[in-house]
Amino acid sequence: MFRLRVKMNNRAKLVVLIASTACFATIWRLSSCLSFAALEENKIDKWTDMWTKVKSCSCATCISDFTISFMKRYNRTVNPFLTPLENFTQEEFKWWKALQRENGDLKKFMEAKKRVFTMFPSKPDLTGPRLDRCRTCAVVGNSGNLKGSKYGSQIDAHDIVIRMNKAMTTGYEEDVGTKTTHRVMYPESAIDLDNNTHLVLFPFKILDLQWITDALTTGFRGQSYATVIPKIKANKNLVMVVNPVFMKYVHTSWLFSKGKYPSTGFMTLVLAMHICDELKIFGFGADKNGNWNHYWEELKNETLKTGVHPGRREYDLIQELAKQNKVTFLRGW
Ligand SMILES: *[C@@H]1O[C@H](CO)[C@@H](O)[C@H](O)[C@H]1NC(C)=O
Ligand SMILES: *[C@@H]1O[C@H](CO)[C@@H](O)[C@H](O)[C@H]1NC(C)=O
Ligand SMILES: *[C@@H]1O[C@H](CO)[C@@H](O)[C@H](O)[C@H]1NC(C)=O
Ligand SMILES: *[C@@H]1O[C@H](CO)[C@@H](O)[C@H](O)[C@H]1NC(C)=O
Repeated sequence: MFRLRVKMNNRAKLVVLIASTACFATIWRLSSCLSFAALEENKIDKWTDMWTKVKSCSCATCISDFTISFMKRYNRTVNPFLTPLENFTQEEFKWWKALQRENGDLKKFMEAKKRVFTMFPSKPDLTGPRLDRCRTCAVVGNSGNLKGSKYGSQIDAHDIVIRMNKAMTTGYEEDVGTKTTHRVMYPESAIDLDNNTHLVLFPFKILDLQWITDALTTGFRGQSYATVIPKIKANKNLVMVVNPVFMKYVHTSWLFSKGKYPSTGFMTLVLAMHICDELKIFGFGADKNGNWNHYWEELKNETLKTGVHPGRREYDLIQELAKQNKVTFLRGW
């Protein structure tokens, strides 16, 4: 769960083992334990330095830095993106298949997956945290609370800017910015992308994997519950498919299986916590009058309607993460 990534030779490992055993035996303060190990290796500075800053990246604080309450939910080993080697357990496949009614078995999924990786990169270009890097991200939701916020330049200052579905920037630059490095979508919410934007597909059914391969080649002819754009413009080298197992992990580990499945917005936030060192969240939740409309829509006075998604629980979790200083939540008011 929590590892110091240090290269140690066998002698060093032995010394650390002896040192830590001694610590437990005598209930020394942790610092003395480490100095003991360090003395043996004449590396006092290195050790104490490492212990005072057990960090996973070079930001002031890194999302994946260890904190107990966070680690109850956060599981680094779950792969956020689908790779050719990724497979389901029966239970995971059953959960994913139930999201949207569709015929097709694991074999059909495997075939569709195989085709995905004949066209798109099999390894996403986002690696985990590194001590020499501070990767800052902004996830920009579509809430009406962005209207008049003037967050635009602040949003654009991040290394990675993730937007969702059909969110537009033209005409709203001052409030929402112009940069989009990653756009999250599924077939029913897809739009054309420019050549520098990553397409991040959330697959909710096997058809979605078939859609992404067809929509970028011959055109998609299948049918879904809503109108699907048959062809899209996007850079094939920048397509990433979210791992369905990751979606189940968000549901189980973060929402304790509340609701049928998490909203795309919430899954995107957890995804960002897996690929970013620092995360700012914009455009989530209601505006100051309690309205839940999109920033590009005329104001409609609606109460919170999140359908199959556990909206309130998701919102509370975002606030909790902000309180723990894991993320920064800018609510626009
Ligand atoms: C984290 O995920 C891995 C891979 O899915 C799993 O084997 C492991 O049990 C999980 N750990 C926790 C603490 O849930
Ligand atoms: C994937 O897992 C299923 C069981 O859930 C198994 O039947 C199948 O053989 C596995 N496929 C591969 C390619 O490992
Ligand atoms: C888009 O980017 C790719 C590199 O990822 C490049 O090969 C291609 O020529 C670019 N296409 C256009 C239209 O700029
Ligand atoms: C929206 O409707 C509710 C109840 O119908 C009302 O209490 C609230 O003031 C309305 N908000 C606005 C901004 O009109």
